[in-house]
Amino acid sequence: MKVIAIDGPAGSGKSTVARRLADRLGLDYLDTGAMYRAVTFAALRRGIDPSDADDVARLAARLDLDVKVDAVTVDGVDATIEIRGPEVTRAVSIVAAIPAVRAELVRRQREWAAARDGGVIEGRDIGTVVFPDAVLKVYLTAAAEVRASRRSQEVSDLAYDVVAADLARRDALDAGRDVSPLAQASEALVVDTSERSVDEIVDELVTRL
Ligand code: DC
Repeated sequence: MKVIAIDGPAGSGKSTVARRLADRLGLDYLDTGAMYRAVTFAALRRGIDPSDADDVARLAARLDLDVKVDAVTVDGVDATIEIRGPEVTRAVSIVAAIPAVRAELVRRQREWAAARDGGVIEGRDIGTVVFPDAVLKVYLTAAAEVRASRRSQEVSDLAYDVVAADLARRDALDAGRDVSPLAQASEALVVDTSERSVDEIVDELVTRL
């Protein structure tokens, strides 16, 4: 199985780099952040408190999740837009810190990879926990201002300061949680994306395979 793991904080360029790399290599691409967002979306929609670990874990276990490159469907409902919205973004780190939710989504991520003999998979714990045997582990970083400005361009209805503060809060939660925190695998190739083009980065990754 050929898994390429792409980890890093929000706004580090994971999705852009991972998609381009998958295209280049003819591999499938999986956004595991979208899976945590989809569970959060489903909880909010059903009026389940995102910090109620038992209820959210029960929900995750029976959820019909379909995460494709350009469409995310949750129990038959198209959630592609809503999972990127402010309500889900605010609550997702709480949901992602629930151990039973992580166990369920990690199981699904491994199933996804086994079914297609690998792929390019992005997240926070892919190289460290989910696929410790990945053929290539990449940890993307970027200066905090660069990451915040990328995010504020994506969500044009929010002011830069609001986006920057939310990003900092989410990074602290994702890196500080007990279970599978955001971390660099010791053997990961660390790439700062602040001042490099996507093609340049993808070219470098291809040479590492
Ligand atoms: O990459 P993203 O911003 O869409 O991820 C959403 C949230 O999900 C993020 O705050 C951290 C969490 N996440 C995680 O804990 N583990 C992953 N493998 C992917 C995302």
